Amino acid sequence: MAKFRVYFFIQYGRTVALRISRIMIKNWRNFRGSEVSDVSDVVYLLGPNASGKSNFLDVMRFLRDLGKSKGGGLQEAVESRGGISKIRCLHARQDTEVLIDVDVFDDDTSTGWNYTLGFNIPSKGFEKNRRPHITKEIVNRIENTGEKINLLKRPNMEDEQDEAQRQQTYLEQINTNKDFRFLAEYFGSITYYHLVPQLLKFGDEISGRTLEDDPFGQEFLLRVSATQERTRNNRLKKIEKALRSVVPQMEDLRFLKDGITGRPHLEIKFKHHRPRGARQREDQFSDGTLRLIALFWLLQETGDAPLLLEEPELSLNEEVVRQLSYLIETVRRRRSPSSGRQIFISTHSYALLSNPGINADGIIIIEPSDDGSRTRKINTAEQAALSVGLSPAEAVLPNTRGLPVGMQLKLEL
Ligand SMILES: Nc1ncnc2c1ncn2[C@@H]1O[C@H](COP(=O)(O)OP(=O)(O)OP(=O)(O)O)[C@@H](O)[C@H]1O
Ligand SMILES: [Mg+2]
Repeated sequence: MAKFRVYFFIQYGRTVALRISRIMIKNWRNFRGSEVSDVSDVVYLLGPNASGKSNFLDVMRFLRDLGKSKGGGLQEAVESRGGISKIRCLHARQDTEVLIDVDVFDDDTSTGWNYTLGFNIPSKGFEKNRRPHITKEIVNRIENTGEKINLLKRPNMEDEQDEAQRQQTYLEQINTNKDFRFLAEYFGSITYYHLVPQLLKFGDEISGRTLEDDPFGQEFLLRVSATQERTRNNRLKKIEKALRSVVPQMEDLRFLKDGITGRPHLEIKFKHHRPRGARQREDQFSDGTLRLIALFWLLQETGDAPLLLEEPELSLNEEVVRQLSYLIETVRRRRSPSSGRQIFISTHSYALLSNPGINADGIIIIEPSDDGSRTRKINTAEQAALSVGLSPAEAVLPNTRGLPVGMQLKLEL
């Protein structure tokens, strides 16, 4: 008989302390202008290929790049994306400023922060010689009465006296962010998960070249390695237990450092015809095993800054994906009250969205148009379908079709 499984979870109260509660962007990548309010604790970003899901996540990664403690800052954040011309929306008209405006809200105290950053290339000189400069930087504290208290408004006097100052945000500078350092640290701790198993498996070939703060591959192992031993073992034990149901031949999972190179590794012992079993290192794990290990690890990490999951369904068996939303929700709820992280998930997966208990407020649909993409929450028809018990896979996903109805995917030779 099939095992009993619970897919539903009751519509819930808030479980995070802090969340990015509003995101407004202008001229950001393929968004000419877009605003999402009441952003939930768990966000599902849906849309066809090339609609802008990754670009939307990149807003949060950009904030992370401004706030991160090592090598952060505006110039680096823009440069690492290939310059302002890559970031600025190709649909931009006369107004060419790139703008990000976000609210961070603390539901426990009903207070929050508002951070606005606008930047552009100065209008004098050749574009290729000119560095991005700040057109506005604003920090407001939002009181529980809703009143906004302004902590920073740029350009200010210092900017007028010294133009070069406009190349750096106050967020990235310790001597200027004293009143809102908390916000810089919060942004700086945003984590992006897009583990590419190949980058992890071929660690020796790409030795040392990791993408800082993006656990694409090797960075993930360094993250595990930098964790205190007790915490690390504790987390790995839990991963091992969870993984056993997916990879039944697995006996144990452990962390070790190579005796000669000192490099961190993960090792799994598999059941084998030989009595002592067979040991394998991460370069031999399957793609799905690696991705699950990384996902289970990140879900256990503490901290309250958002976790960005880029297509977590990749390489995973459909039944495992089907249960992911439930797993993510229960893990978040098990953590001590209000300490769960906000999670943004980009996905195409029917299975991932097949849980009717998914909080519909968390769904953001990205719709491409000739004038750039737009974001929207679920509409009344989708809401009606969800309220009679359909899942987002049934009620919403069909409206994000990647091909028009009746059109066949063809490759003409
Ligand atoms: N500055 C820009 N102006 C306009 N369009 C841009 C800009 N930068 C990137 N794009 C376009 O944005 C589109 C969306 O990219 P994105 O990677 O966010 O899509 P996605 O929804 O994640 O797609 P997939 O599901 O395939 O991963 C791409 O077609 C890209 O060409
Ligand atoms: Mg993408």
